[in-house]
Amino acid sequence: MTVKITWHGHATFSLDVEGFRLVVDPFLHPHNPAATVTAEELAADFILVTHGHTDHIADGVALARQTGAAVISNVEIARWFKQQGIHPTYGMNLGGGHTFAFGRLRLTIAHHSSELPDGSYGGSPVGFLINCNDGHDLYIAGDTALTYDMKQIGDGGGVDLAILPIGDYYTMGPEEATVAAQWVKAKQVIPCHYNTFPMIQVDAAAFARRLQQEAEIDCTLLAPGESTTL
Ligand code: NI
Ligand code: MN
Repeated sequence: MTVKITWHGHATFSLDVEGFRLVVDPFLHPHNPAATVTAEELAADFILVTHGHTDHIADGVALARQTGAAVISNVEIARWFKQQGIHPTYGMNLGGGHTFAFGRLRLTIAHHSSELPDGSYGGSPVGFLINCNDGHDLYIAGDTALTYDMKQIGDGGGVDLAILPIGDYYTMGPEEATVAAQWVKAKQVIPCHYNTFPMIQVDAAAFARRLQQEAEIDCTLLAPGESTTL
């Protein structure tokens, strides 16, 4: 009973949950300077989109067309995919959950902004709380500031893995992400949204050390293309 997590650089992940293939925030080669794979090389049954910024959605339509994967996001982004012929789409909203084939997924609050690549309104940015069918609980924060709402996730029992942005400038930085990891009661953290662009250069090894020393939480640093399992 494992969940396999592969980082593609920036905020893009492939998750394999008991044979169901989830891709989070598809931003791939050549759009994503850190990615080693193209959309054509990825498999997906579900595509999860946290918000409409290009660095999270650039390869979304191409990947959905090629794989036939279902798109899970907020109402506005799901509608945008639907308008481009993508089917099926799940347009959820903050706080709402649904049971999918891979487990239960709930949209969590992310404090950020959102606009789709063509300038249309992207609705509220979101994160994802996933109770996988194999028993693992995952929190994918999305692009967000540190928010007190994260405490609710910890109060709900915490998570086996939190995927948190640490790049600063557009999102939380390492200091806030250390607090976020404690608030959501994460057993393990994988950082993302750093070192892709000049404004988000971060010493990830220092973040990993800080997390271990200040919070006794394990941090797994992946290189783009690298995987780990829970
Ligand atoms: Ni963003
Ligand atoms: Mn971003």
